[in-house]
Amino acid sequence: MTMEKIVLPDIENLHQLDVYLKNGGYSAAQKAFSLTSDEIIDQVKKSGLRGRGGAAFSAGIKWSFMPKSNDKPKYLCINGDESEPGSFKDRQVFEFNPHQLIEGTIISCFAIGAKVSYVYIRGEYHKWIKLFQKALDDAYANNFVGEGMKQKFGTDFSCDIYIHKGAGAYICGEETSLMNSIEGKRGYPRIKPPFPAQSGLWGNPTTINNVETITNIPPIINKGWEWFASIGEPKHPGTILFGISGHVNKPGVYELPSGTLLTELIFNYAGGVPGNKKVKCVIPGGSSMPPLRGDQIEGIKMDAESLKIAGSAIGTGGVIVMDEDTDLVKVLARIAKFYYHESCGQCTPCREGTGWMLKLLNRIVRGEGSKKDVDLLISVANNIDGNTVCALGEAAAWPVKFMIQRFRDEFDARVKDEIMIPVLNKVHSMRKTANPLSPVQN
Ligand SMILES: Cc1cc2nc3c(=O)[nH]c(=O)nc-3n(C[C@H](O)[C@H](O)[C@H](O)COP(=O)(O)O)c2cc1C
Ligand code: SF4
Repeated sequence: MTMEKIVLPDIENLHQLDVYLKNGGYSAAQKAFSLTSDEIIDQVKKSGLRGRGGAAFSAGIKWSFMPKSNDKPKYLCINGDESEPGSFKDRQVFEFNPHQLIEGTIISCFAIGAKVSYVYIRGEYHKWIKLFQKALDDAYANNFVGEGMKQKFGTDFSCDIYIHKGAGAYICGEETSLMNSIEGKRGYPRIKPPFPAQSGLWGNPTTINNVETITNIPPIINKGWEWFASIGEPKHPGTILFGISGHVNKPGVYELPSGTLLTELIFNYAGGVPGNKKVKCVIPGGSSMPPLRGDQIEGIKMDAESLKIAGSAIGTGGVIVMDEDTDLVKVLARIAKFYYHESCGQCTPCREGTGWMLKLLNRIVRGEGSKKDVDLLISVANNIDGNTVCALGEAAAWPVKFMIQRFRDEFDARVKDEIMIPVLNKVHSMRKTANPLSPVQN
């Protein structure tokens, strides 16, 4: 397996325009303008590049959904909301390789026929917004973006790139919510269909891609799809930025070929578990992905297909490691609190269900839960899963369902067969048992 780094190469000061140019920067864009948009889309399709924002959908196929006609303006949104707990990789691109993202953006705009791109960055990322704005200003000043690119690249195409700052809402990372947010509306997800390529920003054709996805584009154009397709796992090729955190000696972002063993990532790159403790649980792709048992991670490869077979998903590549002393009931309650807090409240199963799950989990953490509560948790999660407007519903349900399924003992050990509630008077007893509808306790 090649150890080449595509998104975050080890080149000092690569964030500076002159250093980027010395290393072949913006030559992929020059090459792209000598191709047709269909040729670029075809190359990206054949490269096998899959989205790095969570769903691992083919970037080239997504681009091909964009209509060819020019009767409406088209848009590209770059998703840098990065608010999933355990995910912290896109910020590295803004900091260490922003020009490759800018170059990827102009190539992508050209391929799909967009004249405007919005880079949506999480509101809390003050530092990274500033750094990316500086790179963008330099790119504009040197005619790599905007009207000046026509002369610079000798093309009749030009596009503009704007940073759009989020206000700190996880839900605004969901693509349709992101578009509502850019339009200045409340960040409510939209019902699909229509899909963004049909009706996106202001009702116009729009493509949404993750920061890391787009940063892969210039090397694909420069070195060819065959080169990219040969790296890592054939069905999910390229490198992946793995952000590893939790109980490891060297947490951080590691760019490695897809298909790298999870154990290699934990024990080799991230330096193993402090105190050589055993791994109890690993969440492989950000907090919404199904947790894996630590005693079953041997041989699991880190790519979309392998993780599906292992009973989880690649998500954002955010790996959270928990050692043998971790209280998984508390962990799950904390995760549930996040999704309860971030639910936009638009649809009932998610709005109510996330609160019920949190309430039940808090009750179990306090030692006041019964066996029935564990079953009720699974039932609530099942009733959210697949019944909501957007995938935040699944994001909230999956950790609950799979954590309990895979660590049932931990939950059963924390609950009593039946909870005896002191009956002071009838009204009081009704309140106590009218679960799980009373206000959520944090
Ligand atoms: C609740 C929720 C939050 C999301 N947050 C992000 C995010 O922060 N960044 C991201 O790239 N994708 C996020 N996504 C996925 C996007 O909807 C979309 O699939 C992605 O940006 C597409 O880019 P890709 O095809 O390049 O992966 C989120 C999805 C959901 C349901
Ligand atoms: S699933 Fe949750 S976050 Fe998504 S639209 Fe429904 S209430 Fe909002």
